Order: sequence, then C-alpha cells, then structure tokens
Amino acid sequence: MRVITDRAQAEAAVEQTVEHFGRLDTLVNNAGLMLLGPVVGADAEEWERMIAVNVKGLLYTTRAAVPHLLQAAGDGSRRVADIVNISSIAGRVAWNGYGVYNLTKFGVNGFTESLRQEVTQRHVRVGVLEPGGVNTELDSHNRPEIHGEMIQPFLDTTEILAPEDIADGVTYMVTRPRHASIAELWIMPTDQA
Ligand SMILES: NC(=O)c1ccc[n+]([C@@H]2O[C@H](COP(=O)([O-])OP(=O)(O)OC[C@H]3O[C@@H](n4cnc5c(N)ncnc54)[C@H](OP(=O)(O)O)[C@@H]3O)[C@@H](O)[C@H]2O)c1
Repeated sequence: MRVITDRAQAEAAVEQTVEHFGRLDTLVNNAGLMLLGPVVGADAEEWERMIAVNVKGLLYTTRAAVPHLLQAAGDGSRRVADIVNISSIAGRVAWNGYGVYNLTKFGVNGFTESLRQEVTQRHVRVGVLEPGGVNTELDSHNRPEIHGEMIQPFLDTTEILAPEDIADGVTYMVTRPRHASIAELWIMPTDQA
C-alpha cells in the first residue's frame, strides 16, 4: 500500500496506475482521518496527522494525477475525466470539538472549487462529495472518551449511511454525460438533522 502523506509514494501510486492501465480517467481522493476533541489542551501531533492525510495527501495525489487526467480528457475515448474529493458535512458546518477536522474539510471544499474553475474547460470535472455519518472505521481512531462523548450519542439516535451510499454518489458523479459536471454532492443520513 502507498502512503499518500509521503509525496514520492503518492506520485508513485499515480504513475503505477497509469503504467498498469494505460491512462487515468478518475481520481477519488478518499483517504482521511478524523481526530476530534477540544482545541484547548489538544495534542498537536493529532492535528499534524490530520493535516498530513486530509490536506497534504490530497494535494500530492491531485498534483500527480492532473496532467494524466488532462491527457485522458483530451484524447481518451470518454473525452472527459474526473476528480472526486471526499470532503464531509464538516466541510460545510463547523461544530465545537471538530476544529481541525473542520479546517481540513473546509479547505478541501475551497481547493476543489478553485481547481474546478482551472480545468473544467479542458473537460476535467472536479467535484466534492460531502457525506454525513457513514458506517466505517473513521471513528475507531478517536480516543475512547471522545468516542463516548461525541460519537456514541449520535450513533444511538441515527441510522447512519452505508459505504455503498457514498460509492453510489461517486458513481453518479463520474458517469454524467460529458457536458454535465456535478461540482458538489451532499449525502446525509435521513435521520441526521
Ligand atoms: N465515516 C464518516 O462518517 C464520514 C463522514 C464524512 C466524511 N468522511 C470522509 O470519508 C473519507 C473516507 O473515510 P472513512 O469514513 O471510510 O474512514 P476509514 O474507514 O477510517 O477509512 C479511511 C481510509 O483512508 C486510508 N488512509 C488513511 N491514511 C492514509 C495514508 N496516509 N495514505 C493512504 N491511505 C490512507 C485508510 O487506509 P488504511 O486503512 O490502510 O490505513 C482507509 O482506507 C475520509 O476522507 C473521511 O473524512 C467520512
């Protein structure tokens, strides 16, 4: 497995994919880390780990992939290519205790829209998908007391999304006709207000 927080490895992952498949049509920046807790007394190491994956990793893979995506959009059979950045409801709404996770996901949303404007007329579509609560291992990295205070009460009252709900969204975004670009898709559990 390639670790995208290492720029050389992120670039190698992209190059290896192009070598194997002959071209690159789609990049989904999904890797992410959510370590919640107050800013006061925070462990700065947790902040650095989140910024490394959610921000720097996304930048490294995107920078490496964009030239290949532009090429696929220019001369590939689909004549369009896609980047889907997995952000979060935390990229739209800030909550107490989510500070640095909010920072990274608000940043992903801003970067995504900027890049969309840069490359959309060359038919690389760039969009952001913002899930609410999904049943994955994301919360397993939180400290037990954080899980108990901030996550378990939410899980007790909410029928959260399945990973397949997010995969459906990604599939929708990358299978639109060439002239239609989904710049933003916000998928929420119906239970989540
Ligand atoms: N679950 C939710 O409720 C929720 C809600 C909104 C948004 N999101 C977003 O959805 C995305 C996917 O998260 P998830 O919920 O599926 O969490 P997850 O189950 O913890 O999966 C995170 C994924 O990121 C990978 N990853 C972490 N650090 C990496 C690194 N340095 N290099 C390469 N891969 C790395 C992990 O790989 P390994 O397992 O091999 O480490 C894992 O496949 C994240 O961007 C998250 O912020 C999740």
